[in-house]
Amino acid sequence: MNNKTELTHLLKIAHPIIQAPMAGASTPELVAAVSNAGGLGSYGGAATPPAQLRQVVRRIRALTDRPFAVNLFAPAVEECEFTSQQQAVMSEVFTRWHNELNAGPVPEPISILGPFAEQFAVLLEERIPIFSFHFGPAPVDAIREMHTIGSRVLATATNVREAKILVEAGVDVIIAQGSEAGGHRSTFATPYDQGTIGTASLIPQVVDAVSVPVVAAGGIMDARGIVAALALGASGVQMGTAFLACPENNIPEVYRQAVLNGQDEDTVITEVFSGRPARAIRNRFVREMEHYRDQVLPFPAQISIGRRLRQASTEQSNPEFISMWAGQGVALAEALPAGELIEKLVQDCQAIAAALQATVQVFNPGSI
Ligand SMILES: Cc1cc2nc3c(=O)[nH]c(=O)nc-3n(C[C@H](O)[C@H](O)[C@H](O)COP(=O)(O)O)c2cc1C
Repeated sequence: MNNKTELTHLLKIAHPIIQAPMAGASTPELVAAVSNAGGLGSYGGAATPPAQLRQVVRRIRALTDRPFAVNLFAPAVEECEFTSQQQAVMSEVFTRWHNELNAGPVPEPISILGPFAEQFAVLLEERIPIFSFHFGPAPVDAIREMHTIGSRVLATATNVREAKILVEAGVDVIIAQGSEAGGHRSTFATPYDQGTIGTASLIPQVVDAVSVPVVAAGGIMDARGIVAALALGASGVQMGTAFLACPENNIPEVYRQAVLNGQDEDTVITEVFSGRPARAIRNRFVREMEHYRDQVLPFPAQISIGRRLRQASTEQSNPEFISMWAGQGVALAEALPAGELIEKLVQDCQAIAAALQATVQVFNPGSI
């Protein structure tokens, strides 16, 4: 198979495979391993303070001389408003689990994202080659500034409307996120239920609607998914869950085991971890917190208030109170080093493409 697409030319990578940025899970080692293998490694920097982000970028550069991406959340999602009454109600809900896990008092919400302006300034100063962002509205000035240093900008859309808005804002590549995807739904321009289109339906519609390369994301776990996405018109794929079992990432061992044992029925889109819809492996927290979903604090306060419970759960190797983001393809995750995973994906794509050439003979006139 020819691995070259519009995307590989634009991003100067060998294979049209992007390892998804995963805030809290991606590491410089993961990013560099993917980029060194010819894919595009991406670091999820949304919750990384600016000074640390600079160290991360320098560490990636020490490990690879290939292109890589750094991802932030659009600045609009950093702040939220809620009353002390709402906070008191949610603290009360958390208290019983804190007591059960001896996690101490429920903490006050603090800022855990950004600040975008300072993070972004670091990325500009470090002249990162590729910037991507999740959520919206699009930070138009930031996109322009990235372009002035010759860098490319990628952003996620969950429907055609969002894809058009992002292209209008200057984004170079659209990541079309189907509802199978692990992690947060990036929906920003419509109600959430209008941004839950499956990958196979979403990709061709976005491809038809915009003139820039489209990357398919959501439920793509192996070469079958990659070839299918290319057949749907995508120029490449972005895969997150497939990299969750790689040893280079930064997830707790209980989370890794939940990924390796995950089944097709195990994930759910829920707002209870963060205040925004995200796909995660169902656990006790999801089941019990769903009763209080109307009282969940807005994003990102809900993630912040849950930080001590997640930490206690992790320390006790208890998967029941950790936000284990994962997509619907989780059962297909393989525990391979990231570089080997890229090599295997590329080889398998070549084998599938060759087999498909034989299969599509059936469409030749007179073949029956
Ligand atoms: C653990 C995890 C964390 C994620 N964090 C981010 C993030 O920080 N920024 C982002 O743009 N997307 C993030 N995503 C979403 C991915 O970019 C992508 O849409 C998704 O992984 C694709 O679906 P898949 O998981 O089925 O491959 C995350 C996904 C996962 C699984």
